[in-house]
Amino acid sequence: MRKNIVAGNWKMNLTHSAAAQLLEGLAAGSYPEAVRMLVGPSFIQLEQSQRILADTSIQVMAQNVHQAAKGAYTGEVSTEMLTSAGIQTVILGHSERREMFQEDEALLTQKVDAALAAGLEIVFCFGEKLDERKQGKQNDVVAQQLEVVLSRPQADWSKIVLAYEPVWAIGTGETASPEQAQEMHAFIRSLVEQRLGAEVAEQTSILYGGSVKPSNASEIFQQPDVDGGLVGGASLQAEDFLAIANAF
Ligand code: PGA
Repeated sequence: MRKNIVAGNWKMNLTHSAAAQLLEGLAAGSYPEAVRMLVGPSFIQLEQSQRILADTSIQVMAQNVHQAAKGAYTGEVSTEMLTSAGIQTVILGHSERREMFQEDEALLTQKVDAALAAGLEIVFCFGEKLDERKQGKQNDVVAQQLEVVLSRPQADWSKIVLAYEPVWAIGTGETASPEQAQEMHAFIRSLVEQRLGAEVAEQTSILYGGSVKPSNASEIFQQPDVDGGLVGGASLQAEDFLAIANAF
């Protein structure tokens, strides 16, 4: 059975003390045992997050990783730095990285390979832009972006979580309708099935991301092919994030 997952992408938002407050709120909160929860702080807050969440089942993931093993890459963080610090999961392919940091498919392929080779689990993000949806090209765009992972059939697919994030819904307050999300998620699962077989497709968690909040989480999570959410803004408040986890 694939897992239900609620993952928070904190992006570049919190000071050390604000992060501590949020983490303490999460540590004190309750959420269904069957839901796997993750938070994604900035690199500088990973250790603090692990410490404060140590007695909980909430896991800590990184927001990014460099593709090279080590060397002269000022300001970057390697897969080994993450794994040796006890981090097991990393977000890759987020639209903000694609857009603002020129992470194209060639680079993402290198990052995916490096992360999986290091034994990291990846939360691989993809999704169409507004003009692409207006032109009815969303399926083509998603299929193309997914090639980065679909072209890795030898990969350990138990270490791949997919996150469909339509760019027009990220941070905009505009959410895909539950029907739009379901339609796309079913399409994504069919692509995984075609390439990797029914068993892998059934077991792969596909998250929806883009303005998930307590008021809309439940109807989105009810869709049969939506296995949870990658949450930005609403993951910055313990109460909201916990309410989303409790929406299953
Ligand atoms: P949002 O961000 O929930 O603030 O729309 C989602 C994401 O970027 O992962």
